[in-house]
Amino acid sequence: MRAQQQLGKGVRLTTAIIGVGNIGGTLARQLVGAGTPVIVAAKDEANAEALANELGPLARAASVEDAIASADAVVFAVWLDTTRELVAKHASLLENKVVVDPSNPIGFDADGQMSRTLPDDQSAGAVVAALLPASAHFVKAFGTLSAPALASGANREPRAVLFYATDDDTAATTIQRLVRAAGFEPLRAGGVADAGRLEAPGGDLHQFGLNGELVDLNQAHAAMAMRKVTA
Ligand SMILES: NC(=O)c1ccc[n+]([C@@H]2O[C@H](COP(=O)([O-])OP(=O)(O)OC[C@H]3O[C@@H](n4cnc5c(N)ncnc54)[C@H](OP(=O)(O)O)[C@@H]3O)[C@@H](O)[C@H]2O)c1
Repeated sequence: MRAQQQLGKGVRLTTAIIGVGNIGGTLARQLVGAGTPVIVAAKDEANAEALANELGPLARAASVEDAIASADAVVFAVWLDTTRELVAKHASLLENKVVVDPSNPIGFDADGQMSRTLPDDQSAGAVVAALLPASAHFVKAFGTLSAPALASGANREPRAVLFYATDDDTAATTIQRLVRAAGFEPLRAGGVADAGRLEAPGGDLHQFGLNGELVDLNQAHAAMAMRKVTA
């Protein structure tokens, strides 16, 4: 199983990034900048091709199907409803893959006002995890910062933390590698049951729940310990 081979430090990890917008484009640039190959896919393949051309030989564009099939880890950098559609459509291809979900349960009305698209007690992470084949290695990650903060917060000293949540050791090992390659310090905030803490609106470990701040490892541990008590 390819995903398990990733545990070996010398084994090269290929990451499919589905969606080349704010989050997917930023992450692709960061991973390629660290020498990590990516396969990018978008709704309009021309958008994926433009990004791959910009990034050079470590990147290639593909269809969603080909990108998932060819990768060890798959980041769904698309909106939650699209993730639901794509996971349902490509479930068999996701067997044994590490699946990374950065989605927030956010929608916008006609006036541009943000609202929550799931009940308060349901996380996007739990929704996506429940759709995956049992052999997939799910992890919630890469959605805790706004896209501009993700782009500008990389490679600080001390490193800014990106929280992740997973119940799966293979997913944990892989996301640690990806987060470090992106220029951040990984910190596990818990399992899928804790994914809502990493999501906006409402998550206490999302940047919006941390007064817009990026936190270093010491600050992140302190924030994790101060679990927000909601009425
Ligand atoms: N933006 C943020 O600050 C931020 C922060 C944290 C988390 N997130 C989460 O990250 C996810 C992506 O947000 P974003 O702001 O990066 O979105 P975005 O800029 O709107 O980009 C969405 C991407 O999804 C692609 N896409 C749409 N339908 C698709 C399909 N059927 N197959 C393949 N690709 C498809 C689009 O392709 P085209 O390029 O062809 O249109 C586009 O590249 C969301 O779940 C969001 O909640 C966003």
